[in-house]
Amino acid sequence: MKYFSKILFAGLAVIYLISSCSNKKLVIEVDKNDLRKRFVDSLMSKMTLDEKIGQLNLPSIGFDVTGPLLSVDVEGKIRQGKVGGVFNTYTPVAVRKLQEIAVNETRLKIPLLFGYDVIHGHRTIFPIPLALASSWNMDLIERTAYAASREATADGLNWVFSPMVDIARDPRWGRVSEGAGEDVFLGSRVAEAMVKGYQGKGFDDPTRVMACIKHFALYGAAEAGRDYNTVDMSEVKMYNDYLPPYKAAVDAGAATVMSSFNDINGIPASGNHWLMTDLLRKQWGFSGFVVTDYTAINEMIDHGMGNAADVAEQAIEASVEMDMVGELFLTQLPGLLKSGRVKEESINNACRLILNAKYDLGLFQNPYKYVDETRNKTEMMSNDKLKLAKEAAIKSMVLLKNSNNVLPLNPSQKIAFIGPFIDDQRSLIGNWSGAGDWKKAISIREGLTDKFGADKFLFAKGCNIMEDEVLRKRLNDHDGRIEMDTKPEDQLLQEAIETSTKVDVIVVALGETFGMSGEAACRTNIGLLENQKRLLEALVKTGKPVVLLLMNGRPLDLSWEDKNVSAILETWFAGSEAGNAVTDLIFGDANPSGKLTMTFPRNIGQIPIYYNAKNTGRPFDASDKYTSKYLDVDNTPLYPFGYGLSYTTYEYSNLQIDKSVLRNNEKLRVTVDVKNLGSRSGEEIVQLYIHDLVGSITRPLKELKAFTNVKLDKGESKQVSFEISADDLAFYNSELKRVTEQGDFEVFVGGNSSISTKVSFKFE
Ligand code: NOJ
Repeated sequence: MKYFSKILFAGLAVIYLISSCSNKKLVIEVDKNDLRKRFVDSLMSKMTLDEKIGQLNLPSIGFDVTGPLLSVDVEGKIRQGKVGGVFNTYTPVAVRKLQEIAVNETRLKIPLLFGYDVIHGHRTIFPIPLALASSWNMDLIERTAYAASREATADGLNWVFSPMVDIARDPRWGRVSEGAGEDVFLGSRVAEAMVKGYQGKGFDDPTRVMACIKHFALYGAAEAGRDYNTVDMSEVKMYNDYLPPYKAAVDAGAATVMSSFNDINGIPASGNHWLMTDLLRKQWGFSGFVVTDYTAINEMIDHGMGNAADVAEQAIEASVEMDMVGELFLTQLPGLLKSGRVKEESINNACRLILNAKYDLGLFQNPYKYVDETRNKTEMMSNDKLKLAKEAAIKSMVLLKNSNNVLPLNPSQKIAFIGPFIDDQRSLIGNWSGAGDWKKAISIREGLTDKFGADKFLFAKGCNIMEDEVLRKRLNDHDGRIEMDTKPEDQLLQEAIETSTKVDVIVVALGETFGMSGEAACRTNIGLLENQKRLLEALVKTGKPVVLLLMNGRPLDLSWEDKNVSAILETWFAGSEAGNAVTDLIFGDANPSGKLTMTFPRNIGQIPIYYNAKNTGRPFDASDKYTSKYLDVDNTPLYPFGYGLSYTTYEYSNLQIDKSVLRNNEKLRVTVDVKNLGSRSGEEIVQLYIHDLVGSITRPLKELKAFTNVKLDKGESKQVSFEISADDLAFYNSELKRVTEQGDFEVFVGGNSSISTKVSFKFE
């Protein structure tokens, strides 16, 4: 192959250069980029404008439609050189077929990219991202991304539309399930871990896949938690609270970025020159390409930004390179170029960035690099990945309540397992699990049966997942898979009550279906559905201890439940190994350690509610009417950010700092003793928050700045230490400069964001 011989020749030149130069690393870097440039220059010199525009087109082929348009005649378009990549198909067979068309039947034989929504696993499904983040375990998160990358690359894919790093503070928004939650510091660490997990040290390794940071930008701040809605936000808030996770992912080397659907202060992200050029490229130095979200350029017409030609012009001139599904680049750019509205240079730039990515992936050397039938047979749902899925599920679940230590259960007790989710498999793998086979997910009943046999416990369904016909139809129109039992609702309820009279403890699994969170799945009421609540109330009335297992993709309003049931375990949508993880946790073979990464409100009226709020000029004071509060409910959340219980308790003591004044270039050492007071070993997520008391702009009451996971045997005590530097105290001021201002700070260390034990220091 002629590309290959050129690369080989150039490669030899590099080796020669390396051996003759002392600064070896620099030489390799310079030369790699130079080689790529020469290769892409040479290829582009042969390309017609139409062929260049073709590279900017990303149709969907296959399934998973998430918008109004369908891509048609994709194979025909590949043949005509009108496609740069495709998404929504995988398997070596399907990928080989399309790649062969690109490589054998087009003039310049340019290989295709193959993308897919690999969000929390590919074939092996891990807990949804909001759940995974609740592990606060970056090593674990990175390993799940790498496992997903191994499966994806063995299935023909070279590009995943992940991580989603949108900060989200409104649980009505269905997509909170896809991200890491509300906090900018934690969200940034998760973003880095995911990019590392996907991309590793680079694409010389064929098990690594390109990441795509989404949804750039601020998609999580859609007004009223309604999907695709307007975003209007001050720049100070953007820079301090919403942008850092995207930047962290860029700094971690993510190869691509996806533009979001929303507008930002009046300009849609997909045509936003400030966002894509000034911020992303000039300020942050991003050098990969930007793909739009599904038909996002076309949607700028509905945003009111002009006609098809206008919006295509805005997108390409903003520096958006690839058009997902909408084909406005394909249809509009030739005319825009002719009329001089779009510069040839803009199309050249876009094409170059996409070819660069193909070059970096090694596709010009081997277009079938990711078509590996042998690996395909061994990678999928391998034992090590299932083991990881179980570990991830266990570490993601959050114990919200456990009065009288009703959990862990003792298998010698008489226990009834009740609820429509005891047997459910589909919801376990959550949404965005397209290549996952829900029939292979371990249900709660299966997990129990595997460990204790089928006859050990009593079971009853208790209710349908939902009664509401309108909601059911909406969900089922989109593959919701919600079936009604043949028995009437009253009979199901009656059977559950009868079953529960025979036992010592009732465990009931309730929550949302997988379709009730994710894209276009927002809710204005985030409580349990009425019929599920009716079942729960009836079970509580029996007077027996009730353990509530929750399956859901967002923070719920659990005020009633918190008051009335004995224990609550938040299991989220925990993935392929959910049932085994739940069984281990509720019987004490594992100890819960997950902590919330999104605040659970007391009711919907408190939304948006998040821990790093500001003090206001009239801070809460119960005795003073004219302070910032509600008449009908406390300001505090039901469960704060960072909260989660364990079967043991941890005592924090002896919080100390090694100096009272911190200066630039110094480190402040913060230490605390953490002791496991209980009778079993556990893992505690120790969190450090700071409070900047006086600033040139108003500052949050607390900001997470560090955390660590500490394992403690029963009775064991460890000293945990953190280091804080000036950089940890920095923020963007009103001129958007990142500064650390002199003054007084407080440091809090503890097990959740509501802690009040603190020490103070000065920064000078
Ligand atoms: C729309 C979603 O917003 C995005 O997250 C996803 O990657 C694309 N569709 C492709 O499926």
